[in-house]
Amino acid sequence: MQIILCDSEEQVGRRAADLIEARVRQGPAVLGLATGGSPAATYAELIRRHREEGLGFGAVTAFTLDEYAGLPAHHPQSYHSTIRREFTDHVDLPPRRLHTPHGDAEDLAAEAVRYDASIEQAGGIDVQLLGLGANGHIGFNEPTSSLRSRTRVKTLSGATRAANSRFFEGDGEEVPKLCLTQGLGTICESRQAVLVALGEAKASAVQAMVEGPVSAFCPGSVLQLHPRAAVVLDPAAAGRLTLLEYYREAQALQDDLQ
Ligand code: F6R
Repeated sequence: MQIILCDSEEQVGRRAADLIEARVRQGPAVLGLATGGSPAATYAELIRRHREEGLGFGAVTAFTLDEYAGLPAHHPQSYHSTIRREFTDHVDLPPRRLHTPHGDAEDLAAEAVRYDASIEQAGGIDVQLLGLGANGHIGFNEPTSSLRSRTRVKTLSGATRAANSRFFEGDGEEVPKLCLTQGLGTICESRQAVLVALGEAKASAVQAMVEGPVSAFCPGSVLQLHPRAAVVLDPAAAGRLTLLEYYREAQALQDDLQ
């Protein structure tokens, strides 16, 4: 795991955008996209680079990590609408190449299998952008998710529904109880993973993910098994790490090499 310590949310956005840009500039790329607050600065930076520096997404295919069950794509809080509003509608990514699980599918289990297969058919994900739940989830793989799970239907925890109620006018009851999410096994097949975390509320989960044991109880810890995972943190999210000095030193040496 590469730990990238940043001074601010904006710098987190720039460092994560650097990793994504490096792959996008190499040619046709498949990106995995997270929604929520954590990647907002990354998307803002990618949009800026598209507008001001000619970073093109015309050869990009994108797959979101997850979707609420029961919400049609056009619902304002569906992750399909969210990712379009916050990122893809502002760059030249062809809409037909934006994939999200169909949360309103009649057979959700079959939809999950179809979605997992469609990632494979696209050649797999080159760079998977991730956020981290305060309970350690990545995607919507809540604590106790199988470390080898595939895309499937999951039950959202009360903590996640409470955290996401801010997108539903503060009403936790409006947050769907079920979702479709890429599995931990699916996420670990990405060729590169970039996790961004911000704020003190994530500090315990970051510490468990980076320095704790690999455990289904902290699903993000599965990234310890990922061959190429970067964790990009603001000072508050990094606040409980015990080896901060080592990460700083390693980062300085890495930066010198580039
Ligand atoms: C969203 C997702 C979730 C979020 C996580 C953190 O697509 O998969 O894992 O990344 O819940 O959410 P924020 O960033 O809103 O704190």
